[in-house]
Amino acid sequence: MQTIATAAEMTAFVDKAHANGKTVAFVPTMGALHAGHLSLVHLARSLADIVVVSIFVNPLQFGANEDFDRYPRTLDADATKLAEARVNVLFAPTATEVYPPDSQPRQLKAGVAGAPFEGAIRPGHFDGMLTVVNRLFDIVTPDVAIFGAKDAQQVFLVKQMAAKLHPRLKIVEAPTVREFDGLAMSSRNRYLNPNERALAAQISRALTRCQEVADARGTAAQAAKQAAAVIAEKPAIRLEYLALIDPNTFKEVPATFKGQCLAIIAARIGETRLIDNLRIAF
Ligand code: PAF
Repeated sequence: MQTIATAAEMTAFVDKAHANGKTVAFVPTMGALHAGHLSLVHLARSLADIVVVSIFVNPLQFGANEDFDRYPRTLDADATKLAEARVNVLFAPTATEVYPPDSQPRQLKAGVAGAPFEGAIRPGHFDGMLTVVNRLFDIVTPDVAIFGAKDAQQVFLVKQMAAKLHPRLKIVEAPTVREFDGLAMSSRNRYLNPNERALAAQISRALTRCQEVADARGTAAQAAKQAAAVIAEKPAIRLEYLALIDPNTFKEVPATFKGQCLAIIAARIGETRLIDNLRIAF
């Protein structure tokens, strides 16, 4: 595996690969890699000749009171995992490569679809996320980019942005990888102490309750209510939002909705904020 640190070298590498008729799959990450990220890498390998993974903890997508400073940075261990997963290039740029002081990259706005849910709780997060993803797409110029389904609103916004600014780029969503008890894998799971970790499985239980209600011919409104009750069984979990949304619009579905929707949830356990989602058929 080759490690590249500059934007110019990264672009030149992919230009050469394209000139040689190779396709390139890109997996953007912030590092602290776990089995979920590696599943994105495996999917990427099945989709293109060359796999590029970036590791960059993007300051623009963290609010003032968020965990930018304590976000886990484990570059050496990450590089070992990526080499074992037969990644071709690790792109690990510095902040000045991504945001050169003399030519500020285009600042993107998430707009209406970025306002509710994560956007309401983390103001500016999606503007910063889209700004860096667009910049990384400009540098890496991939044919396909892979994002984890766990960050449902992020994938929705990236697809919207890519359709406008990178129309030839294919965005692929990879299924969420879960721990033995259903907890969605996340780099932030490592913040949980053993008690909090045990409680965290309640988040995916709340989502599966939505599907149970749907299977029992309950309504979307009943599913949301019962899922919230599952969270309420553990008062140490602070629910931030739980909603059933239309994955095509990211808007809440009506109370008696019929069809496929997405149950989305965000909750805090101690200092740690966790998100998850599950497709539900009514
Ligand atoms: O999902 C993430 O890890 C980040 O939001 C991303 C897409 C790498 C952009 O910084």
